[in-house]
Amino acid sequence: MTDELTPETPDEEEQPIKQRKNGLYPGVSDELAENMKSGWADTELHDLAPIAQAGHAADRRAALSARFPGERLVIPAGLLKTRANDTEYAFRAATEYVYLTGDQTDGSVLVLEPRADGAEGHEETLYRLPRSNRENGEFWLNGMGELWVGRRHSLDEAAALLGIACKDVRELPEQLREATGPVRVVRGYDAPLEQALHDKVTAERDEELRVYLSEARLVKDAFEIGELQKAVDATARGFADVVKVLDKAEATSERYIEGTFFLRARVEGNDVGYGSICAAGPHATTLHWVRNDGAVRSGELLLLDAGVETITLYTADVTRTLPINGRYTDLQRKIYDAVYEAQEAGIAAVKPGASFRDFHDAAQRVLAEKLVEWGLVEGPVERVLELGLQRRWTLHGTGHMLGLDVHDCAAARTESYVNGTLEPGMVLTVEPGLYFQADDLTVPEEYRGIGIRIEDDILVTEDGNRNLSTALPRRSDEVEAWMADLLGK
Ligand code: GLY
Ligand code: MN
Ligand code: MN
Repeated sequence: MTDELTPETPDEEEQPIKQRKNGLYPGVSDELAENMKSGWADTELHDLAPIAQAGHAADRRAALSARFPGERLVIPAGLLKTRANDTEYAFRAATEYVYLTGDQTDGSVLVLEPRADGAEGHEETLYRLPRSNRENGEFWLNGMGELWVGRRHSLDEAAALLGIACKDVRELPEQLREATGPVRVVRGYDAPLEQALHDKVTAERDEELRVYLSEARLVKDAFEIGELQKAVDATARGFADVVKVLDKAEATSERYIEGTFFLRARVEGNDVGYGSICAAGPHATTLHWVRNDGAVRSGELLLLDAGVETITLYTADVTRTLPINGRYTDLQRKIYDAVYEAQEAGIAAVKPGASFRDFHDAAQRVLAEKLVEWGLVEGPVERVLELGLQRRWTLHGTGHMLGLDVHDCAAARTESYVNGTLEPGMVLTVEPGLYFQADDLTVPEEYRGIGIRIEDDILVTEDGNRNLSTALPRRSDEVEAWMADLLGK
């Protein structure tokens, strides 16, 4: 990026322009300051159509309003985080804010204020930065000015796009100072805002708001399901991209795989939904291997766990374990096919009315059977399951809710999620695995360093489920055929 304007006086060197939120920067000649005020075209956009999710977001706000009548609800988008000096990490808006607005603008805050005179419902206001003022110089002399960060929507434009009245966020502190009555804020995204509200909120009541917004997301609406399908489809293309460059990865490292998938994520979506796990060889036995700096070797496996996040911030979460040279060895195939069988049993258990735990139990039973059959653990299977002995090699739960967050709905209560019942519209992963650590002396040597996971994204439907990620083959022979096809073999 370019440097900001260089200060001309020693005193001013102490303070980067970025911190000068208002007013002219000294050291700018009056003539230049005057010159910069004018000569700019009116670029206001008119007749903007609402964004595709505006109606869905309005329904979500209406449900939120009904759940907390008479209370002021404050939902921030979050703030930029400094990486170093005047550079920031890529901004990713708070999930709760995105869910309720469809917007992703840093520093913005949604406020639901109880209607005056005891009328039902809430007034909805979205506080955000307006277009930069050109008269007072903030447009070009302030680090948040549009000349530096790009054109913003005007408040009127944003209101038309989002279907929510918009006001200048700089009015919000005053508005909140004057607020009377109960207030709740979503914590963890905007420390100054929380500080401004500290004498009006309690941790317990704020947690109830967070839990509500997590549980509200358990069942996805039609827009969300469409976005998740887009995320999965782009992810499938990203996996194919990776297969086509495995030779380059062999010549370099796992980083080539990470970079290749990231390119797809940035071109088709917003980002990856989580750090891509590009785990070749024994790295596959490390569940969250995201260093991705290891060697990629023919004859070994690549466990690739990656997901594209759409521009609306819905993410896929898919894993395939691929033979780097295109063919599984006999032992790799034996273990792969066992995981496949476990996943099949897990997916079959995903249906409305089933307990959330059922698909985990179904997959674990198959894996325990295989481990007993291979002589790695002493049966009978019931004993293994009862004592959880299979977990030395199965390591993790078999799946989780998926949506705006990869581990979506994480604040939901146990009774509504882990001990809950599946309903149409829920989207979850089914991702059993077997992992034999390189230093596990309890298994034969040839098993050591093999890690296999297969992960798909499953929508609960009225009569069962739909696998959103069927664009990627799962069966071992189909994986091999798909790779051969991509490589022109
Ligand atoms: N990629 C993280 C997970 O599968 O849960
Ligand atoms: Mn995953
Ligand atoms: Mn997952």
